[in-house]
Amino acid sequence: MADGHGEDSPYFDGWKAYDLNPYDPLLNPSGIIQMGLAENQVGADLIEEWVEKHQQILSWKEGNNTSFKEIALHQDYHGLADFRKALARFMMEVRGGRAEIEPDGIILTAGATAANEILTFCIANPGEALLVPTPYYPGFDRDLKWRTGVELIPVECNSHTNFQITVPALEKAYQQALNNKKTVKALLITNPSNPLGLTIPPQTLHHILDFATHNSFHVISDEVYAGTVFSSPRFTSILEIVQSSKKYNPCTVHVVYSLSKDLGLPGFRVGAIYSQNHGVITTSRRMSSFSLVSSQTQAFLTCLLNDYGFIKRYLRTLRERLRRRHGEFVKGLKDVGIDVLEGNAGLFCWVNLRKLLGRKESWEGEMELWRVILEDIGLNVSPGCSFHCGQAGWFRVCFGNMSGKELDVALGRIRAFISHFLSGSDAGNTTSSDDVLGVAREGSPLVACLARMLDAEQQAESRA
Ligand SMILES: Cc1ncc(COP(=O)(O)O)c(C=O)c1O
Repeated sequence: MADGHGEDSPYFDGWKAYDLNPYDPLLNPSGIIQMGLAENQVGADLIEEWVEKHQQILSWKEGNNTSFKEIALHQDYHGLADFRKALARFMMEVRGGRAEIEPDGIILTAGATAANEILTFCIANPGEALLVPTPYYPGFDRDLKWRTGVELIPVECNSHTNFQITVPALEKAYQQALNNKKTVKALLITNPSNPLGLTIPPQTLHHILDFATHNSFHVISDEVYAGTVFSSPRFTSILEIVQSSKKYNPCTVHVVYSLSKDLGLPGFRVGAIYSQNHGVITTSRRMSSFSLVSSQTQAFLTCLLNDYGFIKRYLRTLRERLRRRHGEFVKGLKDVGIDVLEGNAGLFCWVNLRKLLGRKESWEGEMELWRVILEDIGLNVSPGCSFHCGQAGWFRVCFGNMSGKELDVALGRIRAFISHFLSGSDAGNTTSSDDVLGVAREGSPLVACLARMLDAEQQAESRA
């Protein structure tokens, strides 16, 4: 009966609105474009092409690597040895070969969702707490809290420090936990960050590990976007730091990974915990009984991951395409005066729309603007409040889950919206059918929004 699932947040409401009215270039050109889903379709054609060429591995005929019996009969919770080996190698590849990953430290789970929950179950008791830097992935409320009874204490990061995790922010959150008599068992970081689209610098990883070591708690690093780092600075996994320094206890550092983002296979439900802590490995493996990956999926992916030439080419192409797409999208936004946090990874950007809130720099203003963007501009983006961001006006906008053409349509809509505002001539009076997107109605939030924006602009001008 507990209602901690988090389904009733704007993050999921936007998905529902999209489901009711999805954009289609021919069948529904004025529908909602889904920019709230961190899905990777940027390299999907390469994976599909590979599957086309390797059809035989799906047929399980005699003579193939794996027989039907091998995949259909009993599977214990260790997973297929060959798959764990292939996954370990892939995990090292996306970390630039700079972190050692032993197949025996890998526990397979049904996606990173299950991996995060299992680790939380292993590390903390109900009523104990994890520190989580904000803004963070909305699914964490479900994955880390809902069934475990563990509390999340936000480590507030904001635009003044470029949303970096700082020691004072860690100290403040930890002090808050102590004041509330909460035992902190771990700090969970997401590197590269969702929603920031940024890698965490090595120096910050050192500070995090120092802080955790000093206060005797674990560090969990969710690295599901490790393979999406498309420009410098390069990705540094927490494993790299721990393995290259004698200062930290490797038994207190755990990594969560999955193939959902880097390979764009969220439907396959393949995730992993990587740990060097015997107790965590043993207990996670037992708990993974509730979230196994089917042998068929493991056997298929073993073949894919063992094609090293393909994997290298795939990762190179994925990063190059992400770099280009990110660059074009950010340029499109900047051209119309929209600020974006400088990012180097992920499938999304963290967009600053604070100036569009005008005098309404509040959560209420953010929700109003979100509704304008969803209902009147027809884009499902995710408001910062759903990521527990401490400042109103930030939005996560995904660019990896659609074709380049669809992204152009989205940019065109944003351009039309902003240029309408900039023309300023008849804001507050946008009732004709050829106004912004042809959908704004008198009294709609868009009209109110345009009027408010114009007002703010005029005030700024008169101040200047
Ligand atoms: C940071 C982070 N962790 C975990 C997940 C869940 O991934 P999976 O599909 O592997 O369960 C997501 C999905 O968006 C995510 O962004």
